[in-house]
Amino acid sequence: MDTKKLKVNGKRLQATLEEMARIGATSGGGVHRLALSDEDKNARDLFLRWLREIHLEIIIDEMGNIFGKRTGKNEQSPPVLSGSHIDSQPKGGRFDGILGVMGALEALRTLHENRLETQRPVMIVDWTNEEGTRFSPAMMGSGAWAGKLDRDLAYGRTDIHGKKFGEELQRIGYRGEHPARRWPIHAYYELHIEQGPILEKEGKIIGVPQGIVGIYWFDIYVEGKANQVGPTPMGGRNDALCAAAEMILKVNELPDRMGGNIVATVGEIHNFPNSRNIIPGRVHYTVDIRSWDDELAIQAWEDLQKDFGRIAERRGCPVRSEKTWSVGHTAFDERLAKRVRKTAEELGYSIHPMVSGAGHDAVYLNQVAPTAMIFVPSMGGRSHVEVENSRWEDCEAGANVLLQCLLQSASEV
Ligand code: GLV
Ligand code: MN
Ligand code: MN
Repeated sequence: MDTKKLKVNGKRLQATLEEMARIGATSGGGVHRLALSDEDKNARDLFLRWLREIHLEIIIDEMGNIFGKRTGKNEQSPPVLSGSHIDSQPKGGRFDGILGVMGALEALRTLHENRLETQRPVMIVDWTNEEGTRFSPAMMGSGAWAGKLDRDLAYGRTDIHGKKFGEELQRIGYRGEHPARRWPIHAYYELHIEQGPILEKEGKIIGVPQGIVGIYWFDIYVEGKANQVGPTPMGGRNDALCAAAEMILKVNELPDRMGGNIVATVGEIHNFPNSRNIIPGRVHYTVDIRSWDDELAIQAWEDLQKDFGRIAERRGCPVRSEKTWSVGHTAFDERLAKRVRKTAEELGYSIHPMVSGAGHDAVYLNQVAPTAMIFVPSMGGRSHVEVENSRWEDCEAGANVLLQCLLQSASEV
């Protein structure tokens, strides 16, 4: 059989994505499938059923990462791996993460129905808690597996209700036995939506990322003095929310001030006690800074801290900052990225080289194995929202590129 002619079944991929999108479906057309929630469990159960249908060997590790292995002729040689994540943002989209898992599943189904034997084994993976929204940091499953995050530290992380990661993993029945410890991987590919506006603007079908920006996460705690809003005069208040508001604007103004290629965002804020007639006594918020230029990002954070200190002093609201997590910028394996590009072109798809502004499990995989990604356009450049959308034919194109890249890597001796 001429494997170069092998194509995925686009209709089946669409049906699979649509079935998955029913789990945690929101009224606005998105999905709410937070890591280790009941919805995550239900999606995992369905995923396992589909893996069993094509006779994959299933491994669930102690981080809840799910692997499915298809044997190769050279069973002992390191496998080719592909996947992404099943978890979503709160009221997130139907494509982020799940496209990469279902795209890899579609590639494996195609190999299965064609009874194709590859030299190397081919594996699929669902990495636990990529989003980092319920439990921080992000990319926990892949980070621990790659040896970059301590398992017990991950187990101890709590959500806003005080629920522990390790206990929730146990509760949904996905705390596996297998050590979350990396084994040799010949190549890792991750198919994903772009999550930005570039491919659509350029009118291109396949994005070929050369890498991923560096990501820096911080948690900020501002202390004020809570009091009755009515009898307390405006002068001399220590309003933690007002102090935080000033700080947040500094974060927003920062990229312009730095004059470089950098973005900075406050996306999460908790105001205590959060009552309309109590002066806010305490605020916790997050800062996310991203740039390909890691030094610029670090400089930006140092500048911000000075601003925070000045605001805290003026308002009599002490501030404490914690660095929650960071990953320097990721430069993918050039040989694999070239393969993605060439494969897409051979399949007749237009391509566009780019940098990913979003984080992916590929960050940690890239630290331990040759890694590349395949992007498809996001309609209107919207992602992490319910209206996140991609054209089915673009998803199919991405899965075809993935299938052919997997076949090439799996044939290498
Ligand atoms: C993950 O989705 C991220 O880019 O934060
Ligand atoms: Mn994702
Ligand atoms: Mn995401």
